[in-house]
Amino acid sequence: MFGIKIIATGSYAPKKVLSNADLEKMVDTSDEWITTRTGIKNRHIAAKNETASAMGIKAGKNILEKSGIKPEEIELLVVATATPDMNFPSTACLIQTGLGLKNAVAFDISAACSGFIYSLSIVEQYLKIGTYSTAMIICTEKFSEIINWEDRNTCILFGDGAAGVIVKREEEQNTSVFKNIIKSDGKYADLLAVPDRKYIDMKGNTVFKIAIRSMGDITTEILKSCGLKTEDIALFIPHQANLRIINALGDLLKIPKEKVYINVGEYGNTSAASIPIALNEADEKGLIKKGDKIMFVAFGGGFTWGASIIEW
Ligand SMILES: CC(C)(COP(=O)(O)OP(=O)(O)OC[C@H]1O[C@@H](n2cnc3c(N)ncnc32)[C@H](O)[C@@H]1OP(=O)(O)O)[C@@H](O)C(=O)NCCC(=O)NCCS
Repeated sequence: MFGIKIIATGSYAPKKVLSNADLEKMVDTSDEWITTRTGIKNRHIAAKNETASAMGIKAGKNILEKSGIKPEEIELLVVATATPDMNFPSTACLIQTGLGLKNAVAFDISAACSGFIYSLSIVEQYLKIGTYSTAMIICTEKFSEIINWEDRNTCILFGDGAAGVIVKREEEQNTSVFKNIIKSDGKYADLLAVPDRKYIDMKGNTVFKIAIRSMGDITTEILKSCGLKTEDIALFIPHQANLRIINALGDLLKIPKEKVYINVGEYGNTSAASIPIALNEADEKGLIKKGDKIMFVAFGGGFTWGASIIEW
């Protein structure tokens, strides 16, 4: 088995920013309600003709530039999106050609907000057994397209964006941590869905409780399976859906606030893109050092959920 490492990150956020004050003009809500219930202040919104693949290509260019890896070196492209440009071709094929990844096999996966962790776990298998040596993950979401802008229960929560990573096989046997656990439970399909292929429908209150419980359980499980304690984690990057969920999770796991990365206030919930956007930001701010152990956890429609621990 080979070792593997994330060697580069990158992201893209659309220029247009929609604030709580803007939403006050669209639905019966207030900055005060949104801030206290969710912690969200702003979200980025893609232009009308700016598709998930267009945002993914911009994020991909950013990752390639930072990595120094040539497009033809990428052998596997996994794209996580709940808002593909079309039924087919896959958004991955569109991004592949947009980035010139001519030697990559490319496919989409559908796991809603857990898309990044699902993608990491797929890439892990291909790299660890040696099928491929260099993989790219792009998470790209245009939730503005599946939001009913008259539904105050959901329109305040989500934003658009794209981000991802390059993961590389290490030729030498290596002992650094790269562990993922993913889970699904389709019996909750109705609680968070796009039932008519049009708009998000969500039972927010129930989702809230199950999200905290599931993410609490899976982070405890992954720490145990790696033989680690919360004190060993240098940075905890949870899915950015709601500040109250993040705080409840931090309290449950007894992780000090300064070790929890939070940017939900500026992006809202960008679904699969939320963890890699946060990871890229944390890296650009110099918050991660070589050898640091980072823990991710996500939860989303399906239900799907997952956790990862990686070493930087
Ligand atoms: C959606 C969410 C913020 C709502 O917060 P909440 O504390 O659960 O609030 P409730 O749904 O109980 O609603 C409370 C009241 O606020 C109202 N309300 C809902 N949205 C509102 C808004 N944008 N502005 C003002 N009032 C609003 C409701 O109509 C309800 O009014 P009522 O009591 O008269 O019926 C919260 O449930 C949540 O974040 N859930 C998880 C969502 C999520 O993260 N999903 C993705 C997971 S990946």
